[in-house]
Amino acid sequence: MKKPAEELTAQIAQWNEELKDTSAIGVVAYFLHHFDKKIILSTSLGLEDQVLTAMVLRQKKSTPVFTLDTGRLFPETYDLIARTNKYFGIRMKTYFPEATAVEKMVADHGINLFYDSVENRKMCCHIRKVAQLPRAFAGMDAWICGLRKDQSVSRFFNNLVEWDEHNGLVKINPLIRWTEKEVWSYIRHHHIPYNLLHDRGFPSIGCEPCTRAVEPGEEIRAGRWWWEHELHKECGLHKR
Ligand code: ADX
Ligand code: SF4
Repeated sequence: MKKPAEELTAQIAQWNEELKDTSAIGVVAYFLHHFDKKIILSTSLGLEDQVLTAMVLRQKKSTPVFTLDTGRLFPETYDLIARTNKYFGIRMKTYFPEATAVEKMVADHGINLFYDSVENRKMCCHIRKVAQLPRAFAGMDAWICGLRKDQSVSRFFNNLVEWDEHNGLVKINPLIRWTEKEVWSYIRHHHIPYNLLHDRGFPSIGCEPCTRAVEPGEEIRAGRWWWEHELHKECGLHKR
């Protein structure tokens, strides 16, 4: 695990202070310029990621964009990958899990192991998603992602700019203070493609077996790993 140099910690604190009133698009512009070719956008094709894809690519079309395809995504998500690529004129980089690791996991624990224990679920998320991050992040200094404070209790303490010590990168969350309403209004105003499951009661979408629709009034992420306690509900991409 890398540690940030002292200067980097100070720099991150300074960015958080200086950019606290800057618009999301201004933050994106600032960091695309600052990190130049060493910044990457990660997308799960969620609503926030669709907003960021538009903000990033409209400013700098050559910015790398990647998604982690776990092999267990919804058909609607695959459809959105294709629609997004077409809409923005790109071919986002798709990382698949290592086949032998998935085969061993399934042989040892079963195809739907995630329902059996939190440990199994985290193993699946690790093999299918987290373990691929080093490939995506090779040669990068920073990543942009779509965390928002009001997505969950555990995300309330995330900041605009953070040090991601697990990946040894600066992590930038330009939409950190946005509300769900603001995200939708940006999507509609700019006619950005989005996952059709959002119109069917799925505010937050991950893998198909681990995501269900939510009832009106339920939390945004209530349908993610719904059988687990609130505090376990992170897949390991956003370790604290
Ligand atoms: S998760 O940890 O619960 O899966 P969530 O779906 O809220 O995360 O997404 C938060 C951010 O994590 C996204 O904005 C995106 O940057 C990143 N992310 C999540 N899932 C993926 C994925 N499959 N591929 C790439 N990035 C992802
Ligand atoms: Fe596996 Fe579910 Fe995690 Fe997807 S969300 S990687 S299916 S445990």
